[in-house]
Amino acid sequence: MKNSTFIKSLILLLAIMVFSACTEEKKKRVINFSKTDLASENMIPKPLKVTATNGGFALDEFTAIYTSENATGFEAVGKFLAKKIKAKTDLDVQVNVNEIPNLETVIYINQSDSTEIEGAEGYQLYITPDSVILNANTAAGAFRGIQTIRQIIPETSNDTLSSSKIWTIPTGKIIDNPQFSYRGSMLDVARHFFSVADVKKYIDMLAYYKYNVLHLHLTDDQGWRIEIKSWPLLTEIGGSTEVGGESGGFYTQEEYKDIIAYAAERHILIIPEVDMPGHTNAASVSYPFLNGNGIKPELYEGTQVGKSTFDTRKDTVYAFVDDIVREISALTPGPYFHIGGDESHVTKKNDYIYFVEKVEKIVQKHGKIMIGWDEVAIANIDSTSIPQFWGSKKNAELAIKKGLKIIMSPAKKAYLDMQYDTLSKHGLHWAAYIPTDTAYVWSPERYEGIPIENILGVEAPLWSETISTIEELEYLAFPRAIGYSELSWSTQENRDWENYKVRLANQAPYLDRMNVKYYPSALIDWKKSKYTYTEIEKD
Ligand code: ACM
Repeated sequence: MKNSTFIKSLILLLAIMVFSACTEEKKKRVINFSKTDLASENMIPKPLKVTATNGGFALDEFTAIYTSENATGFEAVGKFLAKKIKAKTDLDVQVNVNEIPNLETVIYINQSDSTEIEGAEGYQLYITPDSVILNANTAAGAFRGIQTIRQIIPETSNDTLSSSKIWTIPTGKIIDNPQFSYRGSMLDVARHFFSVADVKKYIDMLAYYKYNVLHLHLTDDQGWRIEIKSWPLLTEIGGSTEVGGESGGFYTQEEYKDIIAYAAERHILIIPEVDMPGHTNAASVSYPFLNGNGIKPELYEGTQVGKSTFDTRKDTVYAFVDDIVREISALTPGPYFHIGGDESHVTKKNDYIYFVEKVEKIVQKHGKIMIGWDEVAIANIDSTSIPQFWGSKKNAELAIKKGLKIIMSPAKKAYLDMQYDTLSKHGLHWAAYIPTDTAYVWSPERYEGIPIENILGVEAPLWSETISTIEELEYLAFPRAIGYSELSWSTQENRDWENYKVRLANQAPYLDRMNVKYYPSALIDWKKSKYTYTEIEKD
């Protein structure tokens, strides 16, 4: 929306408000202005700039949401916010409704072409006693902005001072945009399968902390988890088990599309990974011609790595890979396809390089950008392809020499499956123990000397060898995933452990409402919450 249209809309809103003020007698409202310091709110990730004006905006039954007309996706963002306000406060806030009796305060979600808003995900928030104005260039920016609004709505209303319930939002101004355009987590649904409902809950959590990517590790030695119409045995045989011998599972193509649509409503991109040429035992059990390690493949329920490989010199293997990439790419609107490429210990180096270069062409033929674990940097890959750094400095240096963008997922700092300490109930420790502070106190901007110019963003992978339920997933992911959101969104100058740990402590009521069984790290003085684990902030 151009500025003139924006001003017209504001005038219209004002007129509606005056009209309703004249025609209806309003209830007397007393707003409690104490404790209204926007700068000391518990926002995560920390916004770029916050200026407090120490007043209060009353969110109550006389509040309505308006969004820019004809701005793609903005009304959906307004409705999403209304739904979340309902879940948190039980208020029924109307969206884009013309005649609202007794309208007092508005939340206006405005599409702005202002060049002051940085990037597609930047936003500005102006909060006064009468209005909350959220400006963003795109619906994605508006969506990030409403997460900030959600976070600054107080947990409790000030009902002792008023005849009706009021949630006082502190006034001021926020200017915000992410440091990195890629802010992700990965979920391994191959070692243990996670249901669509579990994945959606994880997406909800990521959305609240302004993530924009969920990478799904869909295949591994122990399981193939995505329906492929042209190769049905992949799921029928390869999806039939998991680590520990449970019954496994897989997503039908319809379920995968449902996950993508759910993520898209939250402006989160799904990146599919089919790990190859190693980590392919489940595929080779289903179709033994794929196998290149000379041993008859059998379903595998253990946790060792590095034993499987495709036969990289067979044309039929590439016909198979073409079908896989074609079918999954057709279902996936995002620009990326992740080919794995890690730990192919029984693939000869030359065969590995040959494979990666051929598969990169297949990925590109189907209109996608290739991502691979950092080993792919040893091949002669295209400048658009993206290595994901998980541990090899040498591979990172190769990638830098080639001028590639890198996703930062160092196992020692960013692997969500690493145990917190020796007492952790779940997880591994082959890379490190990663307590809550260690997960936060490092700099993806300068890790292992990788220049910031080469960094696309940060991703926190959650491998699932030791977890099989959503509660176990949550134990490893939270609170650390909350810290990674700040590492990828907020600038280094804005990050400080002492300050962060207070804001993190105050996430407890939200985590409880979401029924998230987080690891209650003793480093954090968790805020007591009145919520029970049964009150889920449902959609
Ligand atoms: C990995 O941890 N094998 C990428």
